[in-house]
Amino acid sequence: MRFEIVGNTERVTGQPDVLIIKTREATARIWVYSDSIIRVNVSKAFDETDHSFAVIQKPADQLEYSETTDEIVITTSLLKLRINKSPLRFNFYTANDKELSKDDERFGINWQGERVINYRKLYADEKFIGLGEKTGNLNKRGSSFTNWNTDAALHDTKTDRLYKTFPFFIGIHSGLTYGLFFDNTHKSYFDFGATTDEQMSWFGADGGDMNYYFFGAQSVAKIIEDYTWLTGRMEMPPLWSLGYQQCRWSYMSAAEVLDIAQRFRKEKIPADVMYCDIDYMHGFKIFTWNKETFPNPKAFIAKLKAINFRLVIIVDPGIKIEDGYKQYDEGVDKDYFAKYPNGENYTADVWPGRCHFPDFFRDDVREWWGAAFTALTEPGVEGFWNDMNEPAAWGQNIPWLVKFGDKFMPEVRNAYGMQMARATYEGTRKLLENKRPFVLTRAAYAGTQRYSAVWTGDNSAYDEHMLMGQRMVSSLGITGMSFVGVDIGGFTGNPTPELMVRWNSLGVFTPMFRNHAMQGTIRREPWQWGKKNMAIIKKDIELRYRLLPYIYSGFYQSHKNGMPLSRTLAIDYTYDENVYDVKYHNQFLFGDNILVAPVESMQLTADVYLPAGEWHRLSSGEKYPGGQVYNVDAPLTDLPVFINAGAIIPMQNGVQSTNENGDGILELNVWYGTQVSSFVYYEDDGTSYDYESGDYYKREITFDPAKRTVTFSEVEGSFKSRFGKIQLVLHGFGNLTSLKKQAKRLKPVKNLSASFTIEF
Ligand code: GLC
Repeated sequence: MRFEIVGNTERVTGQPDVLIIKTREATARIWVYSDSIIRVNVSKAFDETDHSFAVIQKPADQLEYSETTDEIVITTSLLKLRINKSPLRFNFYTANDKELSKDDERFGINWQGERVINYRKLYADEKFIGLGEKTGNLNKRGSSFTNWNTDAALHDTKTDRLYKTFPFFIGIHSGLTYGLFFDNTHKSYFDFGATTDEQMSWFGADGGDMNYYFFGAQSVAKIIEDYTWLTGRMEMPPLWSLGYQQCRWSYMSAAEVLDIAQRFRKEKIPADVMYCDIDYMHGFKIFTWNKETFPNPKAFIAKLKAINFRLVIIVDPGIKIEDGYKQYDEGVDKDYFAKYPNGENYTADVWPGRCHFPDFFRDDVREWWGAAFTALTEPGVEGFWNDMNEPAAWGQNIPWLVKFGDKFMPEVRNAYGMQMARATYEGTRKLLENKRPFVLTRAAYAGTQRYSAVWTGDNSAYDEHMLMGQRMVSSLGITGMSFVGVDIGGFTGNPTPELMVRWNSLGVFTPMFRNHAMQGTIRREPWQWGKKNMAIIKKDIELRYRLLPYIYSGFYQSHKNGMPLSRTLAIDYTYDENVYDVKYHNQFLFGDNILVAPVESMQLTADVYLPAGEWHRLSSGEKYPGGQVYNVDAPLTDLPVFINAGAIIPMQNGVQSTNENGDGILELNVWYGTQVSSFVYYEDDGTSYDYESGDYYKREITFDPAKRTVTFSEVEGSFKSRFGKIQLVLHGFGNLTSLKKQAKRLKPVKNLSASFTIEF
């Protein structure tokens, strides 16, 4: 195999927006995207027309640089890229010359055949977080990973190739942070100091360019904000999709789905969503219904809606080869399927048997796929679950010479699932007119947050898997995916009742809260676990519903600045070593102020690390000074959950579904803290896109302990809140426990949308 180094600079050309450096072997191009983002592309065959699936921004028009005999320096107000000319090396610094990240001086960028690699300096104290859905620790130092989207059925806590590709990580060392997004859809590799060479980390891919975006902001949160500025942010999710979701492979008939939904209502367990897995179809043919078991989809969905349930149904990419089947006939006629270079349609086995696969890389194919959803939207489906889109072919390899768009499979495989989710999203958004579709996908590439939520695929019913799932959720949050779920209870295997109860209590604090299980496993619905356990499960789901105003405001942050709902503590406590300790690395913040410590099912006490500050246990109100480890009780009825001092948490009364209005009282919980704190409350109609044109309700709520006030800023936006009244509930204020008791001292507020202050 030919080994080629990037070589020495031969020519430098500065154009207004791009700096071009030619060596004998390759060409480097550098663009500035913002003061904290610089793109480097080093290529042997740069293609101007090649576009990114992930990036939605354009570079700045101007780029400033200076040049000496040895060096070129590109400067922004926050970053300095010092380019060593010979050999060509890319070294990043803060504006005040602190070293953020450098090429490995010896090797920098090079090629081994088509494989392109960047070796970088490894710092003694360097930690790495990110890459989205990966097994292993929060701190990925000492580990290596491959991105090659794979149907990873039966994966365990060590499996490398999983369903998704997020080639973005954050490095933390010497009190500094940086981010790096390697935008390349080929099979890619990341090695965070797992080789025998202690001086370097590296990343690379089997083909394509060395094409990365470097982020130099000095906080993890700001790097996430920048990364999601570059690759896009999620829309506001439909409110109903934040409720409890019940799924199974499969509820076999409309009658069975309805029966389960009715049972939720009978047991008074809040829930919003029922799912249909593959068996609703006729012969697993996408966009068909089984006429015997789902004879009247419209009437069935109307019945679900009448009891405030929505339906999500699965779609797989494989299109059954069968003359007379609409999707097959149209796909063949119009030539919409992935192909071999000789023009033959690619064929593989999935659920329906022999299948062809839509070429989602083509605009016309996405359009066609999207329009086909009328078969589902017309009877009333609003949620679309995209599965098997790695794409999966029963674990078999897809021949490398299959073409998607104008590229061979290995070049774009990692983006196939994303393009399917995109087609589904774009199509259903159009069909549902002004209603928000809920789209869920298993395979994904960077930027998928613009179209879809994700879940972590076929997990298993044991404790370690539950804990790892939580780390994946938080890690996906770093890479822009806030709306993430895991199969609560574990997809394969049978959870013990204890595991089911515990996992459900963690599900309350999982952005997407879905109970799902594999065919042949024991039933998972809340009433399958005995009365006592059902009562706990029910109480936990009720808490989820009470927290919805807080959760929805949390998603508003994801929509606005990319901050995930589930946050590894590395975001807020980046330089606290305990956060990376494997004893505590599953802990996370749910939104701004709720710290959750996942606990194994049979462990009834837990060591919990509470970072700096002061914390209150949610269940008992007990106060805990931060910066310490505590051994706390963790019975199945009480997952360790702590509230940050100064937290402002809006809650609502218990409802059975997000479709219910509730009692109209917004319960504002304030936990005592010694500092001024605030919370941005956000609300809209939860179903339409009217918020995009200003129809939302947003206000900042500020707590000032010294002034003894809670102040509500004026309302921004034209939406009328569902809550006509505000009730303050104070926690940890000594004997002043509830303002409700002090109601007489409160002046009634007439105009809830103008700014006002409550004194206590
Ligand atoms: C895949 C999915 C799983 C689904 C099953 C049947 O294994 O990951 O969630 O239930 O296919 O459609």
